[in-house]
Amino acid sequence: MKGIVFVELIAMAETVAGEDAVDEIIERCDLESGGAYTSVGIYPCSELMTIVQAFSEALKAPVADLQHQFGEWMFRRFVDGYPAFFVGKTDAFTMLESIENEVHVEVRKLYPEAELPTFDTKRTEDGSLIMYYSSERPLVDFCQGMIQACVDHFKVEMQIECTKKTTDGAFAADFHIRPAA
Ligand code: HEM
Repeated sequence: MKGIVFVELIAMAETVAGEDAVDEIIERCDLESGGAYTSVGIYPCSELMTIVQAFSEALKAPVADLQHQFGEWMFRRFVDGYPAFFVGKTDAFTMLESIENEVHVEVRKLYPEAELPTFDTKRTEDGSLIMYYSSERPLVDFCQGMIQACVDHFKVEMQIECTKKTTDGAFAADFHIRPAA
């Protein structure tokens, strides 16, 4: 997993708990990398899960909530860091439909070692978008946070319903995204 994800997770935690508390929590995790991350490095996703678990215990917040919050944070960082991906995207569904065949394709070109999920999308007759997510990493709640932040970015009200479909070794979910009535 890209170092930028770790760097941003720690940056987000520092805004909530402060730098010293975060240092202490990371130290207690006893991570193979030593817990010092650079944006351009590559680290095992298992370390991210260890850190999120440790934050969850320290902050008494459920792991799913932290992942969701982190997904929202990460999306906003991508908006700032990679504005080119947002040019010409006039609504949330168009943006979400472009992740698999456009955004993550470019990410893979820039960073061949990136570990990315797979998405399929479908529009329904009632004006919803369904996103089918599948990954080797347990980041369904993180993904929902990203989708939520994407919807917020386009200043629309949507209901996002997540059905987890995890099977052995694969983490999958269907996100049903409906315009709010
Ligand atoms: C709403 C839009 C997006 C969604 C739902 C989404 C979803 C995800 C998810 C769920 C992951 C975690 C990996 C996994 O689940 O296996 C991920 C990783 C990533 N995404 Fe996206 N993404 C979105 C937009 C973007 C944008 C705009 C960028 C801009 C560069 C981007 C770049 C990346 C990168 C760099 C990673 C990390 C890959 C790694 O750690 O190796 N994504 N994305």
